[in-house]
Amino acid sequence: MGVLALGLTCRAMDHVLVAYESHSGAKIRTGGKIMSRDNDTNTKQGFNSFKDGSTDSAAVAAYYDDWAKTYDATIKNWGYQAPDAASATLCELLKSGDDVLDVGCGTGMFGKALSQRLDCQIEGIDISAASLEIAKKQDVYDRLQCHDLQVTPLPVADNAFEAAACVGVMTYIEDAPALLADLCRAVRPGGYILFTQRDDRWDEKNFNALMKDFEARQLWTPLKISKAMPYLPKNDDFSDSIQVIQVLCQVV
Ligand SMILES: C[S@@+](CC[C@H](N)C(=O)[O-])C[C@H]1O[C@@H](n2cnc3c(N)ncnc32)[C@H](O)[C@@H]1O
Repeated sequence: MGVLALGLTCRAMDHVLVAYESHSGAKIRTGGKIMSRDNDTNTKQGFNSFKDGSTDSAAVAAYYDDWAKTYDATIKNWGYQAPDAASATLCELLKSGDDVLDVGCGTGMFGKALSQRLDCQIEGIDISAASLEIAKKQDVYDRLQCHDLQVTPLPVADNAFEAAACVGVMTYIEDAPALLADLCRAVRPGGYILFTQRDDRWDEKNFNALMKDFEARQLWTPLKISKAMPYLPKNDDFSDSIQVIQVLCQVV
């Protein structure tokens, strides 16, 4: 599977600059200071802690840019299984060669997990250019784009994908219905949308109502809403208190 992401950094940074200005008005910060994952007392740019997250796209990009190089090792140490679980669910439904959109792909954990199970054409989108550089090195993505998911429509064609996966991302999205509705545009009728949401945020953001609303609007048919499962069991802030729900829907 080829990677068509040469020149990512230049194009990516252009995208990020545009996205930052349009969403939050904040200035891009390249390189610079490290925000510690062990001591999240750093409050610059509106990102208080990994547990709280933020919907300030500039703050999120800076946070994940700083974390990119050690993200995989750290989050695996915390027992993070969500990308693997998502790929296991989707590979039951997809076939070789299908087009899959990895929404908030980060360093490429979902793309890597899926490609170990099935030979799909995978496109990734994320706001963190440093994370995308690592995703590129996984050699499993056919295309990578740097873009703010809070700016819709996403830069992908209508009906372009058999599936979209959005794993570990909803905490950072203020208007989840806007993003999910756009994924319904990007995925072909009969295709699948898989996303995860923390169980605490599920209630806070009233995802039960969202699920019903999208069904009533004939945007999707829910196929599975999992029970709450361990999310980051070896992270003290999450442990047993914050779990994850995996959702699978079929686009109408
Ligand atoms: C917890 S990581 C999950 C990454 C990957 N899906 C995984 O499971 O390992 C959250 C990802 O969402 C991305 N993200 C958060 N808000 C975003 C936004 N507004 N636009 C694009 N990407 C965003 C971050 O840059 C980060 O890579």
